[in-house]
This record gives sequence, C-alpha cells and structure tokens, in this order.
Amino acid sequence: MQFFIDTAIIDEVREINAWGVLSGVTTNPSLVASSGRDFREVIQEIAQLVGGAISAEVTALDAEGMIKEGREVAGWSDHVVVKLPLTPAGLQACKTLSSEGIKTNITLCFSVPQALLAARAGATYISPFAGRVDDIGWDGIELVRQIKEAYVLGDIQTKVLAASIRHPQHVVQAALAGADVATVPYKVFTQMIKHPLTQAGLDAFLKDWAKRAGASPETP
Ligand code: E4P
Repeated sequence: MQFFIDTAIIDEVREINAWGVLSGVTTNPSLVASSGRDFREVIQEIAQLVGGAISAEVTALDAEGMIKEGREVAGWSDHVVVKLPLTPAGLQACKTLSSEGIKTNITLCFSVPQALLAARAGATYISPFAGRVDDIGWDGIELVRQIKEAYVLGDIQTKVLAASIRHPQHVVQAALAGADVATVPYKVFTQMIKHPLTQAGLDAFLKDWAKRAGASPETP
C-alpha cells in the first residue's frame, strides 16, 4: 500500500517526504482554504517537492465547469490528478478528462455502488472516506474492503485510495482491506512512527554505549 499525505501545508509535506515514504499528496478545498495560500502556488510547490500524484479538487458543480477547471489544474504540473466529487456531473467530467489522458480522483465516495460507477467513468483513483463513514455509525474500513473486492472481481484497474484516515489503526486496517493507497494526515504519520519500546530501546543502547571503557560523555 502506498502512502499519500492529506494536507495543503507545505512544511508538513516537506517533513514527511523527507522520511522517504510518500508517493503523493491529496488536498481538498477545505485544506487549501485553511492553508491561507493561493491554490495554484500550493499545488505547484507540492509538485516540486513530491514527484508523485498530487490531487487538486475542482469547485465547479456542473460538468462543463468541472471539465474547464480540471483541464486548467491539470496544466499546472504533470503530477496533478484532478479531484472530482461523486455526482452525476463529476462522473461526466471524469469520463471526458480521462479520455483526454488526465488522471482523476473521484472523491466523497460513501458506497460500493458509487465506487462501481466511478470506475466505469474511468477514474484513476476512488476515495472512500473511512472516517466519515465511521462517524455515522457504519464501518468505513469495511467499505474500503468491499470496494477492493468488487474491483478485483470485476478486473477494474481504478485504485482504491482510503481517505478520511483518523488514526494509525485505520492505516493498518486499510492495508489489510487491500487499499492501494492510504492518504494520511500529518498528525497520524507522527503517531504511526512512535512506539515507547523504540525510544526505550534506543535510550538503553546509548546509555550502555556511553558506559564502555574509555568512552567520553561527548563521543557516541
Ligand atoms: C481525501 O482526499 C480528503 O481530503 C480527506 O481524506 C478528508 O478527510 P476528513 O474526513 O478527515 O476531512
């Protein structure tokens, strides 16, 4: 399973990208608005940092407007993936943009029937929102699992991008559910890497190393 980071904050992208684990970035209108930055500038800066798929979402509601915006954002960088909502207009725009060779990420997916439609419209990625499904008392990871199963049975190439990830266990569950990608918020990355036994083990190793004969406190 690949990792994308779900953010429009450049420092967050830079820090996690330095770990060598990122294959892409997802943004959405809320994330870009909260960054306080210009949309195009943010996407282009991210594209320079991360050589993978960078999702940039359209805000038009009609197909014609989505196609126009989609072509424009796709022109900002070869890495841009046009993010479109799972509506009839979004599917229509997906079909047109996909036929032009533009990569697409169909977002706000909350059901398997929606995911099957997105695939037939040529979506490169489908984004089931696991956390928001959990929020309404359903099982978001089960949704990811069922979409992947339906895609495998139907020999569908659309990649399953587990979104709305809220905690490290979601990441584990998404991987076990067969997700191709998980888009993970910065905070969850920092939670994933921490383990008390890693820190305790490192502290003990360094303490023992410092005790060896002739070691000075400064030299490792
Ligand atoms: C996906 O691409 C979305 O940007 C994101 O995962 C939404 O997550 P949220 O439900 O935490 O806002």
